[in-house]
Amino acid sequence: MQPMQSFQQIFGTVPTVEAEAPGRVNLIGEHTDYNGGFVLPMPIPRTCRVQLRLRNDDRVHVWSANQGGSVREYRLGQEEPLADWLDYVQGCTTVLRKLGHPLSGFEVHIASEVPLGSGLSSSAALDIALLRALRSAFGIPISDLDLARLGQRVENEFVGARVGIMDPLVASVGRPGHALFVDTRDLTCRQIPFPERGEIVVLDSGVRHRHSAGDYNTRRSECEEACRRLGISQLRDMTPKDLDRIEALPEPFRRRARHVVTENQRVLGAVAALEAGDLSALGRLFDDSHVSQRDDYQVSVPEIEVLVALAHVESGVWGCRLTGGGFGGSILVLTQAGQGEAIGRRIAEAYGRNTGRQIVPLVVGRSA
Ligand code: GLA
Repeated sequence: MQPMQSFQQIFGTVPTVEAEAPGRVNLIGEHTDYNGGFVLPMPIPRTCRVQLRLRNDDRVHVWSANQGGSVREYRLGQEEPLADWLDYVQGCTTVLRKLGHPLSGFEVHIASEVPLGSGLSSSAALDIALLRALRSAFGIPISDLDLARLGQRVENEFVGARVGIMDPLVASVGRPGHALFVDTRDLTCRQIPFPERGEIVVLDSGVRHRHSAGDYNTRRSECEEACRRLGISQLRDMTPKDLDRIEALPEPFRRRARHVVTENQRVLGAVAALEAGDLSALGRLFDDSHVSQRDDYQVSVPEIEVLVALAHVESGVWGCRLTGGGFGGSILVLTQAGQGEAIGRRIAEAYGRNTGRQIVPLVVGRSA
């Protein structure tokens, strides 16, 4: 991020509306949301903050502290995907206008603490923060749940990333210190307090992904093809007793489907473990989830494997896994409360020696 310039410094006036939304760490349930399955994300104490002031014309002026450079500009009704960060803003105005909400132009200042492309859902944090600000600036009557649905439409219909509902949903309705158990088939949600005894350390590999760039969408198409071959509408329809049918599929559909079916079971196990405060059981599920993502869903990269191996060397670690969409991004490590910072620092130092990349661990727990 370049030195932060204020809204007033950029636009010569003060903002009238402010809103923010957090990034998230997904505890478990990866690539299950667009398959109608279960997820268990938790907000992180890093947010995207937007400040906004309405204009009297149809122009949108945007400045982002994370991107630097000059103020970007477009006209409402003339949104065009550019394959860069402005698409998230253009996508928000496009979906609101499509729903018939009259908008005027505005000036917006964006500053995010969620590292971009790190698997911590920086884009959903931006979508939801901006949609919240627009909801209040224009008095749009829309619930938090519908705001999350709109966030997903921004990504699917404008940005071109065929992501699921998990990230905008937790950015919109998640509570700090609580995991959000979601059944993505009907969007029923349960807030589960994260146990006081535990802590999550998030380590960002520094390897960046863009979900609109291809691999993520390919995985999604592979799941759709697996469904077609199995004669079902979503992989959620399969349970462990259907694994024999899945074993008969050709590759890569066999591995993809097997990951989704087994991952859904692991999420249910993780919810039970969280509610019972059984952190060693939770850690084992994290480890199993990682192996399934690496071998069956094939979304890991060498730097992530270095981080996971370093985490396993630490004695106070219950389990760890790649979190988020993959192809780079972050791992999470489950440790005892109070130990996360030291463990995270040791892993980060060793990772720096191995790869030359400097990373800063982030600790997330009950109180944050
Ligand atoms: C990204 C997407 C989510 C989800 C995860 C993988 O974060 O935005 O919808 O599919 O990948 O679990």
